[in-house]
Amino acid sequence: MIKKNISLKNYNTFGIDAKTKYFSEISNEKDLVEKIKKCKKTPFRILGEGSNILLTKDYNGFTFIIKNKGINILQENEYEIVVEVQAGENWHDFVLWALEKDYAGIENLALIPGTVGAAPIQNIGAYGMELKTVFKSCRALEIETLTFKIFNKKDCDFGYRSSIFKKELKEKIIITSVCFVLQKPPHKMNTDYDPLKNALKGKKNTIQNIADAVIDIRKSKLPDPSKIGNGGSFFKNPIINNDKFLKLKSKYPEIPNFFESSNKIKIPAAWLIEKIGYKGKRFGNAGIHNKQALVIVNYGNAKGRDILMLAKEIQDKILIHFGIKLESEVNLF
Ligand code: EPU
Repeated sequence: MIKKNISLKNYNTFGIDAKTKYFSEISNEKDLVEKIKKCKKTPFRILGEGSNILLTKDYNGFTFIIKNKGINILQENEYEIVVEVQAGENWHDFVLWALEKDYAGIENLALIPGTVGAAPIQNIGAYGMELKTVFKSCRALEIETLTFKIFNKKDCDFGYRSSIFKKELKEKIIITSVCFVLQKPPHKMNTDYDPLKNALKGKKNTIQNIADAVIDIRKSKLPDPSKIGNGGSFFKNPIINNDKFLKLKSKYPEIPNFFESSNKIKIPAAWLIEKIGYKGKRFGNAGIHNKQALVIVNYGNAKGRDILMLAKEIQDKILIHFGIKLESEVNLF
């Protein structure tokens, strides 16, 4: 069914009240192809659960919400399984499914908001793990030819919060399902991330304990979008070269930093934002979360442009203070 002139307030975790001219949910691949054919010259865009977007204005086209569901094991041997998950499945529900079946590989990614289909686009990551580690392939509709293609891991050019789907293939394909390889026991686990290591002290290393610890950490730092609108980390953590890092370190000896690759250092954007005094600040309906400075929040009735203006102000201040250009992590529409 196609609806007209509806508000997307309940379809984006920022809770922004922006309108779309046409709106429809997509339940399977056939439905997707038929609805795209109908668009002809009308522009369209695809959303999952709207957990990594900021709606900055009303949209004069179609907004399609991907809702296709299903989790199917395609192959299995004594060590691992290959599982195909439809794009509209909720990511955390998939993590819970894997935990229940005792399949390892995504436990550190528990409680990340959003859909499975959106996960490869920005190569979701948290607590020492990234999606690319368990990703096998995805199936996607090529918009120009209306044919389905398979993208294997090597085709996807995964990087930190990035993939080919955010670059060369941006707006050219629509992911409809994703295949993952998950491990059967005995599990290899990743507990290198310090806050996770601390939370697991005195506990057994099991995938369930890891997921529980991740859930606790996330709940303690990140605002629950059902209570206070937000899109998770608003900016990417900037990656700078060694020369620039040494200059900053001489001025700020305490600057936290993480090795990225030779000559590349990742600096937490949250630290930079805290350093300019913005953590916990509120400007009308928009503000910076008081427990995690990388999260911009909507206190109720913020417009997309209120959030955007605050983000721009932060970017300008960080550029002036540190000579670092912060890039947005959420997608702006
Ligand atoms: N820090 C501050 N102030 C703060 C928060 C953090 O100075 O208010 C500094 C501390 O030095 C801390 C460091 O930043 O050690 C890193 O903080 P944290 O571990 O909370 O992670 P992050 O770098 O801010 C990234 C991801 C998160 C992910 C966490 C955990 C990005 C853009 N964000 O945040 O992902 O959950 O690591 O792995 O890479 C998301 O993408 O929406 C998201 C929440």
